[in-house]
Amino acid sequence: MKKLFFGLLSAVVSASVCAEPLTVCDFENYEVGTTWTMWNRYGGGEASTATVVTDPANANNKVLHVTVKNWNSHAEFAVPSELTGKALTDRYPTLRCQLYRGNGDNADYKQFAVFLGTEELYRDEGYPYQGNKGVWQTKGYALKGASADNNSAVLRIGFNHDDSDYYLDNIQLVGEFDDYTEATDGQVFDYCVNNTSSSYKNFDLPLFIPKGVTANVRTSRYSEWTNALAGEGTLNIYAGGERCYIGTQASKGSTYPDWTKMTGTIHLYPYKEVVGSCGFYGLLLQSGTFSPDNEEQSRPNILFANKTLVMHEGTTLAAESGTRGFKIGGLQMEKTAEMIGYYKSSSANSYYVIGGLNSDGVLAGKIYAKYSGNKVGIIKEGKGTYTITGNENDINSGVTVNAGTLLICNDAKAAESGKKSGATGATGPLTVMTGARLGGNGSIAANTDMYGILQPSTEGFETLTFANYAAGKDVALTLHPKSVIRINARSAQEHSMLKVQGTIVKSNITQDFQTSDANPRLALTLTDDATLNINDEIVLLTCSKKPAEGLAFDMRYPKRYTFTTEQRVENDGTFTIVARVISLDDNPNYKEDDDETQDGDVKNYPDEDITIDMTDKTPLRTYADKLGKSIGVAAASYRYDLSNDNVPETAAVGREFNIVVGENEMKFDATEPGQNYFNYGGSDAIMWEAERNHQEVRGHTLAWHSQVPSWVSSDGRKNNNGFTREQLLGILKNHIYNVVGKYKGKIREWDVVNEVLDDDQSVVRTNPGTYKLRPSIWATYIGEEFIDSAFVWAHEADPSAKLYINDYGVEFMGSTKAEAYFNLVKRLKASNLPIDGCGLQCHLTTGQLDTLKLENNIQRYAPLGLNCIITELDIALANPSAPDALENQAKEYAAITRVFLRNENCPTLMVWGISDNNSWRHNQPLMFDSNCNAKPAYYYVHSQLRKAASKKETSVNLKKAERTYSDEWYNLQGQRIMPGTKGIAINSGKKFLF
Ligand code: XIL
Repeated sequence: MKKLFFGLLSAVVSASVCAEPLTVCDFENYEVGTTWTMWNRYGGGEASTATVVTDPANANNKVLHVTVKNWNSHAEFAVPSELTGKALTDRYPTLRCQLYRGNGDNADYKQFAVFLGTEELYRDEGYPYQGNKGVWQTKGYALKGASADNNSAVLRIGFNHDDSDYYLDNIQLVGEFDDYTEATDGQVFDYCVNNTSSSYKNFDLPLFIPKGVTANVRTSRYSEWTNALAGEGTLNIYAGGERCYIGTQASKGSTYPDWTKMTGTIHLYPYKEVVGSCGFYGLLLQSGTFSPDNEEQSRPNILFANKTLVMHEGTTLAAESGTRGFKIGGLQMEKTAEMIGYYKSSSANSYYVIGGLNSDGVLAGKIYAKYSGNKVGIIKEGKGTYTITGNENDINSGVTVNAGTLLICNDAKAAESGKKSGATGATGPLTVMTGARLGGNGSIAANTDMYGILQPSTEGFETLTFANYAAGKDVALTLHPKSVIRINARSAQEHSMLKVQGTIVKSNITQDFQTSDANPRLALTLTDDATLNINDEIVLLTCSKKPAEGLAFDMRYPKRYTFTTEQRVENDGTFTIVARVISLDDNPNYKEDDDETQDGDVKNYPDEDITIDMTDKTPLRTYADKLGKSIGVAAASYRYDLSNDNVPETAAVGREFNIVVGENEMKFDATEPGQNYFNYGGSDAIMWEAERNHQEVRGHTLAWHSQVPSWVSSDGRKNNNGFTREQLLGILKNHIYNVVGKYKGKIREWDVVNEVLDDDQSVVRTNPGTYKLRPSIWATYIGEEFIDSAFVWAHEADPSAKLYINDYGVEFMGSTKAEAYFNLVKRLKASNLPIDGCGLQCHLTTGQLDTLKLENNIQRYAPLGLNCIITELDIALANPSAPDALENQAKEYAAITRVFLRNENCPTLMVWGISDNNSWRHNQPLMFDSNCNAKPAYYYVHSQLRKAASKKETSVNLKKAERTYSDEWYNLQGQRIMPGTKGIAINSGKKFLF
């Protein structure tokens, strides 16, 4: 009976997704003194030992003491499971254990490794810090799945080192969801209490919600969700108040929980039963930095990216301060639900990037920045259709339709009679990108930029209106080259139509800021049952004001009937465009109206012209010197000893590069940590390294919003020390005079200002030629003049130094930020400032590179007499486990090198760090791995330099060989000169330039 009961219980347990982890060994069943088996990956010479001992921190516990004296030697465990090999790692993809570093444990940075049989399933990426000595830590290692021919159930684990001393306990194999609580249908997790801001009630329970199951969580008004969430079921969140953070707030680390394995739907309801007087009931989304025009280089918060969020009546979605982007795969908003951005008055920008799941959605609530100074923007992505029915929105950072369809379906009549702001509000622009579609039957108060398709109506024959009823002002509808307006008709009376309370503007600027004379298209389609007569007129669009310039369209008419187009001003002043039937015969000029001219973004992948020669040990700098180019690296005196050439990083920095920059050493906080107290320890270390290795130096950086000392500003933005404008000018001037002056004649060039542009540059779409500065202590409290002054002061402090502006997200021509950068740089140049060039940081991830756009961008600075250089290149792996990850990275490094080599105004390419483990970014972005060994990226860059250098040599040699010249040299005046005299020389009838 007992046995049967247990049998049943285990059957139940194994059926559920969240089962128990498998304990491999906790040492409690072994005698103290038991000698453990050690295994060496390469066999032989085993001086390492392992013994069961009493826990050094707890006399009641037994653990394994491992003393490692040989590389590759690991303690061995038989796994008590029927599963072996792949079946075992499929079921248990994580190894968990407790680790205690003995006081004699040598080397803080080393790798932990796990083997199943002889197959390596885990090795620490890089050489991470292994934690403090003398304390137990819990470690979790995500195992690579065992290969198909592995049928082992023997684990070998531990540090790969030759002098380590550590303890292990509680070795477990853990299934993906073993740590989760599996919700049952209808289960309620009640966390709702009447708490205060000093007593958060967090939801920290890892929760698995199986398909078909609905779980309910009531949250408190002060709470943070720090739990992992998984499953395909439904989660109802009953929000008990406004401070319901998803993730931890800034003061608690801005972390966010792992919800990536939850793909079900989340419903949000207000829950007022416990505290009925909260400011709002909903969720506060936490973290995620974002550039709205440059999503690829952003890190939006992806917690909701793979799920649908349904905001029921009376709920609010708010965001934490900063410029944040929240991806929400699917969003449904009921009436009276609100999306409000930051929940206090500030200057925070919140972008909701919706639609990635390709499903449809309805936004019936209110979208606006509830608190002054903030901005809220909507970015529609994905193939689905989103319909805005809200009539009081003010999406003041704009709506951008990148893909799919946006239908504007607010009640236009109610907007008109009630003077409502309508579906978008008038403050932010509405931008419809190439390939995306705008339709509906409501009203749009926003100035609208059409690069894509404008198709009034939903299904029938309705009118889409552009009108600012709230303010009674005109709206501008700008049609860009190749944008499309589509009107559908059944008869002269039944047709869709566009109505503009304002005017239509024609632009010759394309989505990526090229000029084009291509006209917008105006297309009429007829339903199958349409019957028209001669002289029937279909009004395609009306405007309350005649467009200033004539409107030329690429007209497309249906095959049936022959039409003529009339543009006319009616008696009441209205401008209309009318299609009139002039013949019942087929249209002789029929051309199909398709999407063919809506060419989206064509990526230019790097070509593959690579021949690697690993036997060629010539350093990069030798080739670069030959080519007259600078190839450099960010060196970091605090990451490794820059004075010791036995340190592999230091050796590589000196060997390979002819220019260096301090990764942090010359920033404001490093050089002037106290007011007028200068510290050149770090910067001198860079200078000495450079001097020793005959390298040039870039100075980075003088005025930046980041890494400023707290005596200037607590966060680089606030003026919390209450400086006046004059004082701030004085502070900046003194800083620049001192730092630039200190290295006068020694630093080749300075990044005078860094990252001064705001991430949101949508202004350039509506206002070409402009740009927007990022709020910073300098920009906000001095004004734009800080940039001009910084250049002037830097020049005064060292007239021989070349001066640069530097930024990120400005690499690829066609993005709004790249355009804004160009506008700003042009402005600086036109203001006659001593500026020599601009830097493109190039912090990239594989897959982002578009060499054509990069090169076009660099080249457009040349006519201004400016350099455009690559200042901080690193390329993180988008998918580090892909077998071709490193090769793809290498190809992109090579492609950028080619752009650098073939453009004269790009004399410098700097890589932001030497080895992957010393990078500021994850995912192996550099040319050297964590052992400081050259990666494919290095060899590919090397091959490009070698090839270019040898080409140059051969072309010189060829010239020499071809030359058959006499000893007689003449100048252009026919006078005999010494060979080699500067200028043009003539020999045997040929001209030479010396
Ligand atoms: C980074 C450094 O690499 C980090 O070590 C530091 O913690 C933060 O700054 N753009 C810049 C660089 O201009 O100064 C930044 O460097 C990376 C982004």
